[in-house]
Amino acid sequence: MEPWTDLVDRALEVGVVGSFTNVGLRVRRRVGRWTDPAPDALAGRSVMITGTTSGIGRAAATACARLGATVHTVGRDPERTAVAAQEIAEAAGGATVHAWTADLGDLASVRTLATDFLAAGHPLDSLVHNAGALLARRTLSPQGHEATVATMVLGPTLLTESLAPLLAASGAALVPPIARVVFVASGGMYLQGVDAADPLGERSDRGYRGTVAYARAKRAQVVLTDRWAHRWPGVAVHAMHPGWAATPGVHESLPRFERVLGPWLRTPTEGADTIVWLLTDPAAAGMSGRFWHDRRERTTIRVPGTATSPGTTDRLVAAIDDALSPWR
Ligand SMILES: NC(=O)c1ccc[n+]([C@@H]2O[C@H](COP(=O)([O-])OP(=O)(O)OC[C@H]3O[C@@H](n4cnc5c(N)ncnc54)[C@H](OP(=O)(O)O)[C@@H]3O)[C@@H](O)[C@H]2O)c1
Repeated sequence: MEPWTDLVDRALEVGVVGSFTNVGLRVRRRVGRWTDPAPDALAGRSVMITGTTSGIGRAAATACARLGATVHTVGRDPERTAVAAQEIAEAAGGATVHAWTADLGDLASVRTLATDFLAAGHPLDSLVHNAGALLARRTLSPQGHEATVATMVLGPTLLTESLAPLLAASGAALVPPIARVVFVASGGMYLQGVDAADPLGERSDRGYRGTVAYARAKRAQVVLTDRWAHRWPGVAVHAMHPGWAATPGVHESLPRFERVLGPWLRTPTEGADTIVWLLTDPAAAGMSGRFWHDRRERTTIRVPGTATSPGTTDRLVAAIDDALSPWR
């Protein structure tokens, strides 16, 4: 990166608002002379994306389909997922877009998705964990886990490890020869660390704030990236944050935030830019276990007291392994 570009990027990053809004993306794109992926950048590739009925996931699926990928969309409502898949295929000029049904917060449903997908014999070189939501009230998954963690941490972990051998085998044909997994985290994770005493938010006696539960689950995604990069050989594992984008999810969960930032919110396609970049850029594929925003690796710590010690990460991993053990 040229010194001038680097300076502008750093100046934006210091002020959160400048970085996370469409201002950050548009200035970085211009100053950094971002190039679009080649029109056939994903030809021959096979990509699964969760949460494709709306927002960033739908935009990422559309972009991947337009770049030539076979796209496997995953949603929890069969009809809405199928309709969205058809619309994505049409928007991409008749691309191949499959629709799969799974509730990412339900381990039984994730298990069934993985089994059915493997039985169908499709290749798969990339997996994007985009499904997520900020819940106003404490909710439990069918297995009794806090639903935000279940949807954004437990389900995605089970899905990835179930598909990891397939990912590694399909990814071996890529250049460089490595499969790609992307966790769509959030800049909100900067505000929370992993709770060492309750890494999966299981305790109900501590009160519930949706924004805190959401930030902790996103923090867990980011903290775990490095561990998963070691656990799944042949798979490059990335976490990224999309900035702030105008999506149905933001409209539903954060209406005041949406009203205040309205004109500065990114489009869903802008929010999806770094996801698509991570899937297409050979330099990004050569790295693993990192955290990205606007096509650049970012710090994971901005707020004092939010760093995660190796011991706390061990506890988090142990709690996840414990929760997933009946489903392995
Ligand atoms: N927009 C932002 O500014 C922003 C900022 C930071 C991070 N993010 C992250 O970006 C991702 C996409 O969010 P978005 O803003 O595009 O929101 P969105 O429009 O609400 O999209 C979320 C998608 O996730 C799906 N989903 C939620 N829970 C699910 C579950 N249990 N199983 C399967 N699918 C589920 C939703 O499906 P349904 O249609 O069935 O609800 C929907 O397709 C999320 O992980 C979010 O946390 C967004």
